[in-house]
Amino acid sequence: MSANEQSTKGETTVRHKFKNLLLMLLLAAPLAAGAPAAEAMETEDCLGCHGDRDAVAASQFIDGARFDHTAHAEMGCLACHETVSDAHPDDGLTPSRASCRDCHEDIYQEYATSIHGANASCADCHNPHQVKSPTEVSGYDMNRQCASCHDLSDMVSTHDEWLPQAELHVGALPCIACHSGSKDYAITLYITTRQKAFGDFDLADRRQLQELAGSGNIEALVDLDGDGQASLKELRIFNQKREYKNLRLAGMMIPERVTHDFQILDNRWDCTFCHASGPEAMQTSYLAFPEDGGTFSRLPVEQGAVLDALYGTPDFYMMGATRSKALNIVGLMIIAGGLVMPVGHGTLRFLTRNNRKEH
Ligand code: HEC
Ligand code: HEC
Ligand code: HEC
Ligand code: HEC
Ligand code: HEC
Ligand code: HEC
Ligand code: HEC
Repeated sequence: MSANEQSTKGETTVRHKFKNLLLMLLLAAPLAAGAPAAEAMETEDCLGCHGDRDAVAASQFIDGARFDHTAHAEMGCLACHETVSDAHPDDGLTPSRASCRDCHEDIYQEYATSIHGANASCADCHNPHQVKSPTEVSGYDMNRQCASCHDLSDMVSTHDEWLPQAELHVGALPCIACHSGSKDYAITLYITTRQKAFGDFDLADRRQLQELAGSGNIEALVDLDGDGQASLKELRIFNQKREYKNLRLAGMMIPERVTHDFQILDNRWDCTFCHASGPEAMQTSYLAFPEDGGTFSRLPVEQGAVLDALYGTPDFYMMGATRSKALNIVGLMIIAGGLVMPVGHGTLRFLTRNNRKEH
């Protein structure tokens, strides 16, 4: 017997068993629930009601498109709401809810034993119907998860007591960069729109970018030669193009591997943890493009281009790690001299003005 036949035979047996099981269930169900026999409901049926704002209360609405995109979609609704019967919702029973622990034991253990374990539950930070992988969540959205309990402007003022430019830091780092052992950092650039004359940016959404891109794909706004990478030259053209003058690239340092050991880490008082790593560090970077439904896809950026504070990313300046020796020295002097509070951004820009003019 060939392997092929064997597997076909195996499948048939399984299918037979499955059919029998289904039959038994179908016969037993009406007896148990007192409801008429019907095909078991599938995700599509659930979304027929729960995906329709007119059919269910707002708190019971599930965004079908967002759910379909998640790693949870493959399992279907019933994997987590096992007890929903065919008579639902008329049976008046409250459907069961699986616990995250059933399937994410390792993360559960790590989180439950962390100092933050008693402060928030998995569902406080994750909507099970909209889960995302760390690489498709923006750093801003990561911070929104924390902001539901830790007001961001309060955080800026408490951190400002020791962290210079706390607002800039909170905008350029997800909280978990300093409050967890997350690893594999990459600088991710987000396209933001200028809201007012100075400061105050919002992420550009897909519709805004599509309008600029016309019938082309939005990656082509930067990736002019379509080689699947943003080069330093392409970043410069993007930054200087008049039609895009309301768009800016804002950088964030984002971990690709997230751990759930939320805590205060002593070494994050140490500015050199991020700032003195030199131009060899932070070489990996991406440009994030918004997708429909709140996720992001990533375009790799040429190695090192993101550290070119003059051409590549004029709005992102990673002191101690830029390509320009002069900028690094000035930056580190400022940190070492503790001059940062009174000096800050403006002076740094002033000190480096000649460097800028050169280009
Ligand atoms: C015919 C429309 C309809 C279908 C189909 C349907 N539901 Fe519901 N569902 C409702 C309504 C209406 C409620 C609210 C019932 C109530 O509050 O008493 C509800 C409540 C729920 C709840 C509880 C919400 C809460 O606040 O605790 C869950 C979970 C749920 N449904 C899951 C599902 C799943 C999973 C499926 C598919 C297997 C499904 N539903 C199919 C209409 C539907
Ligand atoms: C990975 C597990 C999982 C899957 C898959 C899942 N749910 Fe849920 N669902 C939950 C959990 C957990 C809650 C409770 C959330 C909370 O406590 O805030 C919930 C809550 C709900 C609620 C109550 C409203 C709310 O958000 O609290 C409804 C309605 C619901 N689910 C319907 C569905 C439907 C319909 C599907 C399929 C399209 C689905 N669920 C798929 C885990 C899941
Ligand atoms: C029935 C099993 C099951 C349950 C229950 C479950 N998950 Fe998942 N979850 C999975 C699987 C399978 C994946 C995809 C593989 C992986 O990342 O482990 C996943 C992935 C995820 C992801 C990452 C998504 C991605 O694209 O990488 C998050 C976040 C997540 N789950 C959160 C939760 C939370 C929060 C709960 C509880 C509300 C929960 N899960 C309950 C099975 C489950
Ligand atoms: C205080 C907020 C918070 C809590 C509580 C939390 N998470 Fe997360 N989790 C995050 C953040 C932030 C990420 C990064 C990606 C994102 O934002 O979704 C993440 C990522 C994940 C991922 C994707 C990891 C990967 O490397 O692909 C999974 C799976 C996950 N969480 C499951 C859980 C489970 C299960 C629980 C409960 C035991 C939980 N989380 C509790 C904030 C939290
Ligand atoms: C559901 C509410 C909730 C969410 C969401 C939440 N936290 Fe907390 N967190 C708390 C509470 C409550 C405390 C204890 C009181 C306090 O310090 O504010 C706390 C304390 C902390 C502390 C201090 C721990 C210590 O050692 O004293 C840190 C750091 C922290 N949270 C980080 C985070 C981060 C990072 C996120 C997002 C990934 C987050 N929290 C999301 C509720 C939350
Ligand atoms: C540059 C690193 C860094 C960043 C970014 C950062 N923190 Fe902290 N955070 C710290 C350090 C170090 C402490 C300890 C300070 C102290 O004890 O005074 C701390 C203290 C805290 C505390 C306890 C004291 C307090 O202020 O209530 C909380 C809660 C907290 N951080 C939450 C957050 C949240 C939420 C974010 C994101 C908005 C965030 N942190 C961003 C490094 C950071
Ligand atoms: C977890 C990483 C991390 C830690 C720890 C950290 N920083 Fe930063 N810092 C950054 C990032 C990322 C930026 C880039 C912000 C930008 O330009 O968008 C930045 C920017 C700055 C700037 C502004 C540069 C400019 O544009 O003018 C100063 C000043 C600064 N950091 C000083 C410090 C000092 C002092 C400490 C220690 C008390 C510190 N940082 C700790 C990541 C960090």
